[in-house]
Amino acid sequence: MCKFCWALVLVLFLTIASISYLFIFKGQTITASDGRSAILLTTEERNLVLLEMRQFLEAVQIITTAINKDDMPAVARAAKKVGFAAQTAVPPALMKKLPMGFKKLGAGTHKAFDQLALDAESLADKDYALAQLGDLMTNCVSCHASYRFDIAVE
Ligand code: HEC
Repeated sequence: MCKFCWALVLVLFLTIASISYLFIFKGQTITASDGRSAILLTTEERNLVLLEMRQFLEAVQIITTAINKDDMPAVARAAKKVGFAAQTAVPPALMKKLPMGFKKLGAGTHKAFDQLALDAESLADKDYALAQLGDLMTNCVSCHASYRFDIAVE
């Protein structure tokens, strides 16, 4: 192949690679003044994700109270509510703005709640459930340490 063709192939490859990086890995982010990655969203998108966050917090509250009462069916119900299947469908436009690391942590958290629900039903072991909850909450902590939501200037 001619030199020019090789150069063209290389340029195309690099363009595709950087577009993939921007859309799949980086999302729509900037570095915020507090050092975290700020994900730039519309007001509605931020409201949607924050609603999901408050559901996470509510689940954690119900689960800890139910563990204390040794009410394992209530633990399973609350965990299932924020599991993977119960996840609100994320609009494609919002999905595109979320960086890969964020999506992984988010999906991992929903899956961990599913596992907690399954084990609470089958093992009914409250100490184990509490350990699982403590473990999965490292996802909450590390995601909050890395990301925040800012409103994109429209
Ligand atoms: C994939 C990343 C991620 C995970 C996992 C995550 N959060 Fe969040 N959460 C965020 C971000 C980003 C914000 C916005 C923070 C900001 O803008 O300063 C937020 C905000 C919140 C808020 C504030 C809601 C509001 O209305 O202002 C609560 C409560 C919350 N998260 C609870 C949790 C709990 C509990 C967990 C774990 C069970 C969790 N989050 C897991 C990313 C995450």
